[in-house]
Amino acid sequence: MDNVVRATRYAVVTGASSGIGRELASLLAREGYALVLVARRTGPMQELADQLQQAHGVPSVVLSADLASPEGVPTVVDELKKRQLGVEVLVNNAGFGLAGNFEALPAEQQVGMLDLNVRALTALTRELVPGMVARRRGYVLNVASLAAFTPGPFMSVYYASKAYVLSFSTALHAELKGQGVTVTALCPGYTETEFAARAAEHQKARLFSGPMGTSNARQVAEAGYRALKRGKAVVVPGFPNRLSAWFMPLAPLALRLRIAGYMNASGS
Ligand SMILES: NC(=O)c1ccc[n+]([C@@H]2O[C@H](COP(=O)([O-])OP(=O)(O)OC[C@H]3O[C@@H](n4cnc5c(N)ncnc54)[C@H](OP(=O)(O)O)[C@@H]3O)[C@@H](O)[C@H]2O)c1
Repeated sequence: MDNVVRATRYAVVTGASSGIGRELASLLAREGYALVLVARRTGPMQELADQLQQAHGVPSVVLSADLASPEGVPTVVDELKKRQLGVEVLVNNAGFGLAGNFEALPAEQQVGMLDLNVRALTALTRELVPGMVARRRGYVLNVASLAAFTPGPFMSVYYASKAYVLSFSTALHAELKGQGVTVTALCPGYTETEFAARAAEHQKARLFSGPMGTSNARQVAEAGYRALKRGKAVVVPGFPNRLSAWFMPLAPLALRLRIAGYMNASGS
């Protein structure tokens, strides 16, 4: 009986084919959630689904969707409706960044970044929160970044997209208080995943090669999952990152721009 009840608790994880999303999916499976895994690459998600079935006995639905495209979110929502899956946890994790001069980076990639990091995250939250409110039970985990705490020259669109995620998530957290639904913004610092390779496609930022302390995806996911379960509004994994998040809003804007610009610029 317990298995049946547990298996009906569904968690949707976007960006589940690698990095932080993959680890969050594993943690949710360990807690007995059945999963809806979303990203573009099916192979790594199918492999993960098989592993999770074996290790934790939970089923997964693998959905290939380009969430930056106009069809991405509707594809996911239609599939959830068709399968009549009541979603208890939504993890909006899919996202990417690009380092380089604003005017030199390809326009379609920059706008695509907003489509994924901002529009798809908002649209999926808008689709799934009403059901959570109606059931008076739900958790949303939105993956922002330490970049959300300051503007970031040479990664201007990415930093701005993550500032949106943090602002939107904390506002919605307050708005939904008392309705059984929590929204948590997870704000990692630099974490070893496939993120850096994609972000450095046009320009290698110092951030990705410097002496910065890095986290691993599992640690970040664990901090995010704990915060989600506690219904916290914001979590910044790692002490040095927490210190930065605390310090940044207090520092003069000119200083923040200098530091972030230095880290994002090419070291060579
Ligand atoms: N790593 C860091 O240093 C760091 C720091 C702060 C915040 N973050 C944030 O953490 C989140 C996860 O990133 P990560 O570090 O785990 O990087 P990652 O390993 O590159 O994972 C990104 C995930 O997003 C998916 N994705 C990318 N474009 C997509 C699209 N158009 N449609 C659907 N899925 C898409 C990727 O899958 P497919 O390629 O298969 O589609 C992948 O599963 C991102 O929001 C990122 O901004 C990362």
